[in-house]
Amino acid sequence: MPKWAAVIMAAGKGTRMKSKLPKVMHRLAGKPLIAHVFDTVQQIGIDKTILILGHGKEPIESYFRGKVQVVFQDEQLGTGHAVMQALPELEGVDHVLVLSGDQPLFRVETLQHLLDVHEREDAVATVLTACFQDPFGYGRIVRSGGAFQMIVEEKDAQPEERLIAEINTGTYGFKVSALREALAELTPQNAQGEYYLTGVFDVFQRSHNKVATALVEDPGEALGINSRVQLAEAERTLRQRILAYWMAEGVTIVDPDTTHIDAEVELAQDVIVLPFTMLQGRTTIGEDAIIGPHVLLDCCRCGKGSEITHTVAREVVVGDGCKVGPFAYLRPGTELGSDVKVGDFVEVKNSKVGQGSKIPHLSYIGDADIGQAVNIGAGTITCNYDGMKKYLTVIGDHCFVGSNSNLVAPVTVGEGAYIGAGSTITKDVPARALAVERSRQVIREDWHRE
Ligand code: UD1
Ligand code: CA
Repeated sequence: MPKWAAVIMAAGKGTRMKSKLPKVMHRLAGKPLIAHVFDTVQQIGIDKTILILGHGKEPIESYFRGKVQVVFQDEQLGTGHAVMQALPELEGVDHVLVLSGDQPLFRVETLQHLLDVHEREDAVATVLTACFQDPFGYGRIVRSGGAFQMIVEEKDAQPEERLIAEINTGTYGFKVSALREALAELTPQNAQGEYYLTGVFDVFQRSHNKVATALVEDPGEALGINSRVQLAEAERTLRQRILAYWMAEGVTIVDPDTTHIDAEVELAQDVIVLPFTMLQGRTTIGEDAIIGPHVLLDCCRCGKGSEITHTVAREVVVGDGCKVGPFAYLRPGTELGSDVKVGDFVEVKNSKVGQGSKIPHLSYIGDADIGQAVNIGAGTITCNYDGMKKYLTVIGDHCFVGSNSNLVAPVTVGEGAYIGAGSTITKDVPARALAVERSRQVIREDWHRE
């Protein structure tokens, strides 16, 4: 088996994004553009990847820290110059896959096809090509009698060459030894004064070296992101791809037009996703769960058979058989055991709620540890913050907290205790006790006269 490495070029500026963020760090389906490229390369089994960075290198480098080798191109003198910077890292490598960090839509199968053609044809280089209805701006594939001849850039093309629909996707397989020799012959004698990587094909042509081509069947995969409009276009393509994948895996998506599922989300069989739902980050959903409508889950784990509706939750664990919403807000650090109910207008933050417990209406529960089979009455608030620090509220199993209670933390309510409605609890309540804190009701007869 020949040894492959991958080089991802990402030193360019990406001016048209008009952004502080480097272009390739803009997110698509929940991860940076360049991470899509990197992950696809990983999936075809290439384990040595070299990133070429220049403009805005810091955030990209720190995102990939430890996962990949980075080479810097301090001056961006063209794609050929970019690949030259990686040559020292290609010692002992037979072939190299060259890609751009801003083309996130290539499928694993497409890149695998490029590698297969390259090896089968025993070519010094294989170009991944696509046929575009509007090829403006791209390098064109010039053929003679059907055989590949060269790549001509838009700015250097003759009028008749500009009519060619087959374009260079900017993705190639190269034999490293041949690439090394050809790069040494590049000059910046062209309309843009750059070292074009595509210039190596002129060298191969002169030396009668075999160049192969592999066609991308779906030209949409070759979309490069240069603007926010293209970013949105890629998002749409990827979203449809992700939804189609999950539907094929046995997930019902009632309205694909209003459902957004990030690339790293995992869904089990027979999950139902209702309209206007976004599942983000590394969210996982268990079998038979019903999510939506109007739900946003970011990095959440949801158990089997749970139902979540009209809810926002981030970094939360929801057990099996829970019912959440409508209009719940679950914040980081919240862990619901199985069969928990969190109802309408309830906010829960950094709290554990034990099996079978219920917080049905209008509550704020923060920094609390709630046992099993607890009933929290409507309007109950944990007063967890004294203006300086946050404190814990502990509520034992089988407790009943009456409506409109305030639990002033730090406070512990023992197992099986009862709290009378409207109480402000500032002292610990022993197990099985009743605590009531409110003034006695006064009655004045005939207070109101007609
Ligand atoms: C390139 C190809 C063109 C192809 C098109 C596909 C060349 C000369 N032309 O053109 O045939 O149709 O891609 O999208 O290669 N980069 C660097 N360092 C540099 C210059 C570029 O790292 O000095 C990186 C960019 O960040 C980008 C990639 O290389 O990720 C492609 O560069 P770009 O300037 O977009 O090339 P195109 O002009 O689009
Ligand atoms: Ca480009």
